[in-house]
Amino acid sequence: MLEIKNVTFEVDDEKRKIIDDLSLTIDDGKFVVITGPNGGGKSTLAKLIMGVNDITSGKLIFDGEDITDCNITERANKGISFAFQQPVHFKGIKVVDLLRLAAGEKISVAKACEYLSKVGLCAKDYVNREVNASLSGGELKRIEIATVLARGTKFAIFDEPEAGIDLWSFQNLIRVFENIRESINGTILIISHQERILNIADEIVVIENGKVKTKGPKDEILPTLLGTSAVDIGACSKLM
Ligand SMILES: Nc1ncnc2c1ncn2[C@@H]1O[C@H](COP(=O)(O)OP(=O)(O)OP(=O)(O)O)[C@@H](O)[C@H]1O
Ligand SMILES: [Mg+2]
Repeated sequence: MLEIKNVTFEVDDEKRKIIDDLSLTIDDGKFVVITGPNGGGKSTLAKLIMGVNDITSGKLIFDGEDITDCNITERANKGISFAFQQPVHFKGIKVVDLLRLAAGEKISVAKACEYLSKVGLCAKDYVNREVNASLSGGELKRIEIATVLARGTKFAIFDEPEAGIDLWSFQNLIRVFENIRESINGTILIISHQERILNIADEIVVIENGKVKTKGPKDEILPTLLGTSAVDIGACSKLM
C-alpha cells in the first residue's frame, strides 16, 4: 500500500505549489488511473513517488515504511518502477540487454521476445536492435513498457503509456494493460487521458491544480468525466 500524506511540491524560484497538500492512499493489487487536465500535476506526482524530485513537505509511506528520504534506487529496490511519459534513450545497448537489466537476471532471448510481443512489437525485428534514436517514439515507448513488465515490480507507474502509440496498436496496448495484473502481480498506477484506459481501472483519481479533485470506483467517477475536457481533449490530441 502506498500512502501519500499531505504532500506538497513547490518550485524553488517562484514558491508555486505544483502539488498542494495532496493526500491519497493506493491499496495493494489495485489498478488505479490518474487523470485530469494538462498541467494539473500528474507527472509531477509520479516523479515524487519514484523519487525523481524531492517533495517539499509531507510523507510517502510504502508498505508501512517511510520512503520520503529514499532515493530512486532505494525506491526501485523496494519495488516501485516507473515508465516515463518521454522514454529515455540508451546508447550502445540492445533491446534484449535493456530487458535483462530490467528483469535483473539473464532472461532468455525467448523470454525477452515474449515481453516485446506483449507490447505489440514483432520481437525478432527488435530484440537485437540498439536502443537509440533510430527507434520511433512509439517503438521506444513500447520498449519502455516491456521493461516495466520484465521488472515485474510490486508497484508500477506508467505515465501516459498511450502517448505516441498509433490508433491501430492502441487496441493491443489496452489488452496488455488488461492482462498486466497477472504479469506484474502488483499495483498499477497509470496516468492517462484515454477513456479506454480509464474504463479498465478499478479506481479513478482526478488531479487538478495539484490537488485530488475527485476519486472513487471507476463506475462512479467515469460517467462524471465523459464529455468533459479531462477525457476528450486528451483523447483527441493523442489519437489524431
Ligand atoms: N521543476 C519544475 N519547475 C517549474 N514548473 C514545473 C516543474 N515541474 C512541473 N512544473 C509545472 O507544474 C505543472 C504540472 O506539471 P505536470 O507535468 O505534473 O502536469 P501533468 O498533469 O502531468 O500534465 P499533462 O497532462 O500535460 O502531462 C505544469 O504547469 C508544469 O509546467
Ligand atoms: Mg504529464
